[in-house]
Amino acid sequence: MLAMNYRGPYRVRAAQKAEPKIEHPNDAIVRVTRSCICGSDLHLYHGLVPDTRVGQTFGHEFTGIVEEVGPSVQNLKKGDKVLVPFNIFCGTCYFCKKELFSNCHNVNPEATAVGGIFGYSHTTGGYDGGQAELVRVPMADVGPTVLPPDLDEDDAVLLTDAFPTGYQAAEMGDIQEGDTVVVFGAGPVGLFAAKSAWLMGAGRVIVVDHLEYRLEFARQFAQCEIVNFKEVDDMAIHIKKMTDWLGADVCIDAVGAEAVGNALQHLTGVKLKLQAGAATVLHWCINSVRKGGNVSIVGVYGPTFNMVPIGNVVNKGLTLRANQASVKRHLPRLIEHIQAGRIKPSEVITHRFPLEAVSDAYHIFSSKLDNCIKPVLLPAMH
Ligand SMILES: NC(=O)c1ccc[n+]([C@@H]2O[C@H](COP(=O)([O-])OP(=O)(O)OC[C@H]3O[C@@H](n4cnc5c(N)ncnc54)[C@H](O)[C@@H]3O)[C@@H](O)[C@H]2O)c1
Ligand SMILES: [Zn+2]
Ligand SMILES: [Zn+2]
Repeated sequence: MLAMNYRGPYRVRAAQKAEPKIEHPNDAIVRVTRSCICGSDLHLYHGLVPDTRVGQTFGHEFTGIVEEVGPSVQNLKKGDKVLVPFNIFCGTCYFCKKELFSNCHNVNPEATAVGGIFGYSHTTGGYDGGQAELVRVPMADVGPTVLPPDLDEDDAVLLTDAFPTGYQAAEMGDIQEGDTVVVFGAGPVGLFAAKSAWLMGAGRVIVVDHLEYRLEFARQFAQCEIVNFKEVDDMAIHIKKMTDWLGADVCIDAVGAEAVGNALQHLTGVKLKLQAGAATVLHWCINSVRKGGNVSIVGVYGPTFNMVPIGNVVNKGLTLRANQASVKRHLPRLIEHIQAGRIKPSEVITHRFPLEAVSDAYHIFSSKLDNCIKPVLLPAMH
């Protein structure tokens, strides 16, 4: 089959690979129909995630058609159209019982922090991902959701990560009616966080980025105010000026380890790797939020440590919440929002590529060329 193949930093290509097989009675094999590239894939592509092995197939945001199921699978059958959350999880462990599916204890022998993720290096279990014609889906009774007949597949593929992650970012901010919410990052995750903030009763939503085309998109898609950080001297003071000198009620980090905007952070976090990514946005969140406010972090950081102003967190009395999203927990509500016409997630899809063009797709998305917001790979186009 054809599959995306990692060859090393900034080098990916489409290549032939052995078809996946049922390895466990609860596996399914899914024929992929849509597969997005995520901002998280860029950390892999840039060589920033430890133990990313040559030959791995990335891709944790995909929809498809069930091709085959293992003997113990009861909830899926051949021919079902499914969306598959990016988390691989068992559904029965201590953490899954608390609906912390992203922290499942049974699916990632490499770590005790994060659970399993499709196509996301051996630090999340070493599973091959869905930027391929076929993918093995472990725990097939638990993860995949059969598509309701009226759900558009372009909307469905955004329910595998970007929309639920943005939604969980807003949820972890514990937004109260009328709150001012600042979202750092106008990528797909930030856009959905901004949109979700309104659904949760925000009174004001401000999105920060430096790419004009993304800010303009955010203004239209999420009806928010926008700030270009290149035009701002000091982010915390700027946000305070916008909020009667109090600061925002909630700040959301939808950027993570590859944030730009602070040379020292970038040097130590990205170039020299003395810390697990640039903590620029984390600083901005902690310093821009009001006393007693909430900081919600969904931007990805590495597993070791980062330099963060923890003293400000203590002295301001902040609440910090963070996680990889537990996608499955949010799906019933998010499908309802789509069906009620409150949001059309597929509006963020700007590019479609055949799987053969995976290398161009990564390049365009990574370099933010051609006004790219969210690219989708279509294996069936070849
Ligand atoms: N927690 C989770 O479950 C989860 C899931 C998906 C993605 N993520 C993470 O969320 C982050 C965003 O993902 P995405 O797909 O939207 O990525 P993306 O690369 O499309 O968007 C990131 C945006 O951040 C902007 N940015 C860079 N530095 C900034 C700064 N200092 N201030 C404000 N904006 C800045 C960039 O210009 C870009 O528009 C990534 O770190 C990704 O790994 C987390
Ligand atoms: Zn993703
Ligand atoms: Zn579990």
